[in-house]
Amino acid sequence: MDTVHVFGQARKWILEAGEQIRSSFDKTLNIHTKSDPNDLVTDIDRDTEKFFIENIRAVFPGHRILGEEGFGDKLQDLEGVVWIIDPIDGTMNFIHQQRNFAISIGIYENGKGKIGLVYDIVHNELYHAIAGSGAFLNGKELPKLERAAVKESIVALNISWVLENKRVDHNLLIPLVREARGTRSYGSAALELVYVATGRVNAYISPRLAPWDYAGGALIVEEAGGSVTNLNGGKLDMLNKSSVLAAGPGLHGDILERYLKVGK
Ligand code: IPD
Ligand code: CA
Ligand code: CA
Ligand code: CA
Repeated sequence: MDTVHVFGQARKWILEAGEQIRSSFDKTLNIHTKSDPNDLVTDIDRDTEKFFIENIRAVFPGHRILGEEGFGDKLQDLEGVVWIIDPIDGTMNFIHQQRNFAISIGIYENGKGKIGLVYDIVHNELYHAIAGSGAFLNGKELPKLERAAVKESIVALNISWVLENKRVDHNLLIPLVREARGTRSYGSAALELVYVATGRVNAYISPRLAPWDYAGGALIVEEAGGSVTNLNGGKLDMLNKSSVLAAGPGLHGDILERYLKVGK
């Protein structure tokens, strides 16, 4: 893959899609529900995914696409070049707040992350990373993350995971929430990941996300010097759902070992 060429196209399309989403703010949204009454999708989510797919198919016919809204390919493996797209990450925020949402794109070659883009349209903040070349915000390289202790950290997580639930032992998360300097919840995994990359938060935890939520942001965190794994310390799965722990150096291992009890 010609990474520079592919990145240039992806950047152009994400900015164009952002412009289209911005201009939709004045129009009435068509809102539909998916798996449950709080699982929302709008025509804008669908149209944005279709916009990327049409462009990718026209310029890169050999590339394959995994998109949340299902207009891409049905993938069984990650061979070749695969675009993993969330047309709007944070749809509930998009509908209720018209902010705190982003477009997320991860481009993988034979399973390896090559390009990540996350675009916060409302703030006009475009984050990107190219494997081995660092992480950037609006073209300016982000400084490498420094070590932080839990007691001086802001941890991003959804409050519902601290209640008793099926996916994670909430008793493990309570001490982390208690000992951290603060917690935040933004309702967009892609933004919470890039906030780890910028140091706006120091860690992000979710027991259940899909590849399109983290494919772009994970690469940006790693290129900023952080680590992203599942809650067992293993590699993220880019075909199936996975838990996610993203944090800067030192803190990532600390949370895994001292709070999530991995390796104990
Ligand atoms: C959702 C957001 C949210 C996370 C959910 C995701 P969507 O994505 O990333 O922060 O907690 O699990 O499904 O549906 O708005 O693209
Ligand atoms: Ca969704
Ligand atoms: Ca999402
Ligand atoms: Ca989405």
